[in-house]
Amino acid sequence: MKVGGVPYRAIFTEGDGTEVRVIDQTVLPHRFETIRMETTADAARAIRDMVVRGAPLIGATAAYGVALAMRADPSDDSLAEAIAMLGATRPTAVNLRWALDAVGTLLRGLPPGERTVAAYDFAGRLCEDDVRTNRSIGDFGLGIFEQIARQAGVGGSRGDRQLNVMTHCNAGWLATVDWGTATAPVYLAHDQGLPVHVWVRETRPRFQGAGLTAWELGQHGIPHTVVSDSAAGHLLSRGKVDVVIVGTDRTTAAGDVANKVGTYPLALAARDNGVPFYVAVPSPSIDWSIEDGAEIPIEERDADEVTRVWGVDGDGVERWVRVVPEGTRAANYAFDVTPRRLVTGIVTERGVCGAGGLGGLFGR
Ligand code: MRU
Repeated sequence: MKVGGVPYRAIFTEGDGTEVRVIDQTVLPHRFETIRMETTADAARAIRDMVVRGAPLIGATAAYGVALAMRADPSDDSLAEAIAMLGATRPTAVNLRWALDAVGTLLRGLPPGERTVAAYDFAGRLCEDDVRTNRSIGDFGLGIFEQIARQAGVGGSRGDRQLNVMTHCNAGWLATVDWGTATAPVYLAHDQGLPVHVWVRETRPRFQGAGLTAWELGQHGIPHTVVSDSAAGHLLSRGKVDVVIVGTDRTTAAGDVANKVGTYPLALAARDNGVPFYVAVPSPSIDWSIEDGAEIPIEERDADEVTRVWGVDGDGVERWVRVVPEGTRAANYAFDVTPRRLVTGIVTERGVCGAGGLGGLFGR
């Protein structure tokens, strides 16, 4: 996707191909900056502090984090340390474990002298696969959008009717290598002339919707409106949303969906109002080892993310401000689990299925 007309990916290499750079998502939308990761510790910090975030990008960053370790020292100990350090960063997105398991298995089977090249090659392929996967999710998701648009009369004689899509958090290109998952069909719809408008939930406490999704959509010229998370029920009940589509950090084999906290109440409100609720699920986000969403570890982050907000004041000065009485205790659950019964359909790179249909789609 483009930033100011220049094509970017959320993670990329430069120089001789071993220097790894990411977009710093902690300063968007107020500043666009990239950061170079020099060491595995840099990669781990970037994941933990959410310089990079979003399940697919966490997996890609971890893969490059291992490559950086191999560049410094390709020994068995260094490999084990890197995998342990990166694996301890964030617990919910299963893409992290998926990427580390795969790169660990590959590298342990190679002599140390071959590991650096193999690790960079692995990370590069993972990124290319991610782009292809998301593009394919976009194609299948677009098919759903087109069908809903036809039923809703979008693009018909009343030329003012747009397809109103609601999303939560940022499952856009910033959360992946490119395209995004939930946003891929939005970008394709827009590019192909289907009039689409996105309701962007702000996504407290870290504002990935207000700060990141709104920025992304704005860069691409896609009409969007930011609303508070709590406005969703009202919009759904007034017929202002045609379809909801969100991403996932981990979807179980049976189709229970962990995603950014607030997704579950959104799914409840969508169901109560008869609005289809889709989840964009790239296969690395499927945890085939569990069926029940209650087994998914839910990350609890620092309470500061709830008690303070960051923004720009009228003079253009960036500030943190406290929004609760001083000393107030806060809890910060970062994800929730939407039970499969509330999911209309899952959009994968292999096609669309009901929440119980993942096994059939992937031959598991
Ligand atoms: O805490 P975050 O910002 O990493 O959470 C991100 C989400 O919940 C996304 O919806 C999910 O990772 C899917 S990204 C394609």
